[in-house]
Amino acid sequence: MKFFVDTANVEDIKKANDMGVICGVTTNPSLIAKEGRDFKEVIKEITDIVDGAISGEVKATTVDAEGMIKEGREIAAIHKNMVVKIPMTVEGLKAVKVLSSEGIKTNVTLIFSANQALLAARAGATYVSPFLGRLDDINVRGTDLIAEIAEIFQVAGDIDTQIIAASIRNPIHVTDCALAGAHIATVPYKVIEQMTKHPLTDAGIEKFQADYKAVFGE
Ligand code: E4P
Repeated sequence: MKFFVDTANVEDIKKANDMGVICGVTTNPSLIAKEGRDFKEVIKEITDIVDGAISGEVKATTVDAEGMIKEGREIAAIHKNMVVKIPMTVEGLKAVKVLSSEGIKTNVTLIFSANQALLAARAGATYVSPFLGRLDDINVRGTDLIAEIAEIFQVAGDIDTQIIAASIRNPIHVTDCALAGAHIATVPYKVIEQMTKHPLTDAGIEKFQADYKAVFGE
C-alpha cells in the first residue's frame, strides 16, 4: 500500500514529502477552506512540492455534471499531476465519464458503500475514496468496506481503479486498510508522525546513547 498525505497545508506537505514516504496529496473543500487561501494558488504550490498525484476537488457548490466537467478541465489544466476529485452522485458519475474519456484522472470521493465504488469504477474513475473514519464514527466498520471493494474489484478482473482509503484518523486505521486491500491510504500528517513512533524505539535510542556516552563520552 502506498501513501498520500491528506491536507492542503503546504508546511505539512513539505514535511511528509521530505520523509520520502508519500507519492501524492489529497485535498477537499474543507481542507482548502481551513487554509483560508485561494484554491489555485495552494494547488500550484503543492504541485511544486510533490511529484505525484494531487487531488483537487470541484467546488462544493457545483452539483451539476456540466459545471463539474468545466471545473474538472480547469483543475486538470493546472498541472499534469492533477486528479479531479468528484463527489459520488449521479451528476458526478456523468462528469467522471466525460473527463475520463478525455484522459483526465478522477478520484470519486465520499464513497460509503461497495456499490458506489463499483459504479464509480465503471464510470471510469482512476481512484475511489471510501471514508473509513466517518463510517467508524457511526458505528459501521470502515475497514469492512475497504475489504469488500477490494474483493469486488479483484473478482471483476477488469477494473484498474485504485482504492484510496480516506478519512484515516489513527495508525490502526492505516494497518487495517493495508491488510484489507487498499492500494493507497491518504493520511493526515499528524497520523504519519504517530506511525513513526514506538516506545521501544525511544527506549532503545536512549539506551544506545547512554551506553555509548558511558564509554566514549559526548
Ligand atoms: C480524502 O480524500 C478526504 O478528503 C478525507 O480523508 C476526509 O477525512 P475526514 O473524514 O477526516 O474529514
